[in-house]
Amino acid sequence: MGQLVINGGKPLKGRVDLRGAKNLVTKAMVASLLADSTSVLKDVPHIRDVEVVSGLLSLHGVKVTHDEDGVMTMDTSAVKQARVVDIDAHAGSSRIPILFCGPLLHQLGEAFIPQLGGCQIGDRPIDFHLDVLRAFGATVEKQIDGIRLSAPNGLTGAKIELPYPSVGATEQVLLSATRAKGITELTGAAVEPEIIDLIAILQKMGAIISVDTDRVIRIEGVEKMQGYSHRALFDRNEAASWAAAALATGGDIFVGGAEQTKMTTFLNVFRKIGGAFEIEDDGIRFFHPGGELKPVVIETDVHPGFMTDWQQPLVVALSQAKGLSIVHETVYENRFGFTDALRKMGAEVQIYRECLGGHPCRFGRRNFYHSAVISGPSKLVGADIVVPDLRGGFSHVVAALAAEGKSTVSNIELISRGYEKFLDKLTALGADYQVREDVRA
Ligand code: EPZ
Repeated sequence: MGQLVINGGKPLKGRVDLRGAKNLVTKAMVASLLADSTSVLKDVPHIRDVEVVSGLLSLHGVKVTHDEDGVMTMDTSAVKQARVVDIDAHAGSSRIPILFCGPLLHQLGEAFIPQLGGCQIGDRPIDFHLDVLRAFGATVEKQIDGIRLSAPNGLTGAKIELPYPSVGATEQVLLSATRAKGITELTGAAVEPEIIDLIAILQKMGAIISVDTDRVIRIEGVEKMQGYSHRALFDRNEAASWAAAALATGGDIFVGGAEQTKMTTFLNVFRKIGGAFEIEDDGIRFFHPGGELKPVVIETDVHPGFMTDWQQPLVVALSQAKGLSIVHETVYENRFGFTDALRKMGAEVQIYRECLGGHPCRFGRRNFYHSAVISGPSKLVGADIVVPDLRGGFSHVVAALAAEGKSTVSNIELISRGYEKFLDKLTALGADYQVREDVRA
């Protein structure tokens, strides 16, 4: 595992450019399986999660190319069943395989999902996904090495209500319903911009989908779909990460490709803390305007709320705000593990089981430390830290960049799951670091 040695205490200044959102691109790649012709996806980042999905598509007979400019082509004219051992060996670090089910059931009548990976930020069950697939008429059989699904007579549209607006389960419905027989009505759907972009892709492919008010999505099944050509939505999570990094280090970062309308909630919070931004046609400049940062109370939520993926780097910036901030995490039950390292670096962060600062959530009165109180400003000092997951890891690097002295950050490959050319971007922003071992980030 690679290590970064960071000499912190210098503001990050410069420009980074975004490509397509990890959380859209990987699903758009799966959507290509619904057609039996070629799809073209533009702005696809070179990140580990994309490599994993490309590999899975290849195992299923899809011809995938991905050039330096981020243009990916997927030729699905010869989709075939993959060998279970190959899927298993390949999928280890990703949760995307579960989304292959609907398209594979349509194309081949069966599918297999191995044990799923992904960031360790909670239990991350797949019960909603399996219930959805059963509602469409699939047979779900749990086996030792994974789950086998079959639908020899195809899938049929259904009325489905999600118990929680899960992003993945909504995508599962979309990818299964578009070619199912008849009408599907989904209530309690997630409506993240990445989902709306996936719907745009499916519409290009021939689907009939309407997004109604109050989280209702209606899909009229079609028999055949064709390949698409699409430029992926920019990565809002990466944009928010660099914005928080600018604030935490007292810096100034222009994030090329970031768009205001998809980030309104984040921008409001950024401004409340005392961060400044300027919206340009081709991106957003995020900077620390000088003076004191102010504390805030944040509750993470599904869109249009404050995204759970934005809180980790922002907590580092909040450690520099004067007073008490509260972050109530309501999407994942276990997403404050990264704060151990921040405490080690001098941040004052306490985590609680109670629902603090907002509405009671699903995790209240249970044994989940899902609220954090951050007291600032604290002087951060360098430390030896280990990256625990993607967003937590980014926040560790930001803390190390903001801290005085030397930090050693281990396990940084995890960051390359979601941030393209991470080290090049740090260099472009003037970060002072050395790579200690062979690192692919
Ligand atoms: C997606 O995960 C993203 N991942 C996550 O980003 C993101 O944090 C999350 O959506 C919320 O926006 C990808 O798109 C690849 P969910 P997903 O289903 O779809 C519970 C990152 O750092 N749930 O909306 O897996 C679940 O446990 C990653 O980029 C069930 O209970 O998230 C969670 O508490 C991390 N049963 C809640 O729903 C299920 O079957 C929301 O999860 C499915 C989910």
